[in-house]
Amino acid sequence: MKNIAIFASGSGTNAENFVKYFSGNKSVKVAVVLSNNRKAGVHERVNRLGVPSFAFSRDEFVEGAPILRKLTEYHVDYIILAGFMNKIAYPLLEAYPNRIINIHPALLPKFGGKGMYGMHVHEAVVAAGEKETGITIHYVNPHYDEGEVIFQSVCPVLPTDTAEDVAQKVHVLEYLHYPQVVEELLSK
Ligand code: GAR
Repeated sequence: MKNIAIFASGSGTNAENFVKYFSGNKSVKVAVVLSNNRKAGVHERVNRLGVPSFAFSRDEFVEGAPILRKLTEYHVDYIILAGFMNKIAYPLLEAYPNRIINIHPALLPKFGGKGMYGMHVHEAVVAAGEKETGITIHYVNPHYDEGEVIFQSVCPVLPTDTAEDVAQKVHVLEYLHYPQVVEELLSK
């Protein structure tokens, strides 16, 4: 059995989708969810499905040790970022080399980097008049959105699309592909 921890900062629809996808799976389990936000919607979403969640301060994430202790307690093999808005600090990168995976809601290297998260990304895509956007699943390294790309999937952006329309299309791709791509990686 491989245990995954999901890190999420907000609503947590991707985290919930992971929990549902792997429920009853004999090889992969969502063991725990960690957040930098005590009030994030993700807690209720996953607790309802029987998955424990914990909130840590920004300082604790930067220091790393309190997070590592929690990950050890839950025998975590892989870390999955799903709308996690803090940078991942060195102690975690060191402890989980090539075992931290992120999803970015655009086609990296476009629309990545500091400040590019959630709706900001979709607003920038619409403002730039892009004809397509999508998702990028990638390994996490010390630089925002620059780790090796594992998977990308594309969707069209129509001239009439608002940022909300784009967000909706991107979410569909995220729910469809993210758990599957992780499952495939973990089975290797
Ligand atoms: C997702 O669209 C994810 O790709 C994005 O935040 C959203 C979280 O939604 N992540 C980033 O922007 C990271 N740079 P959720 O909380 O409903 O899963």
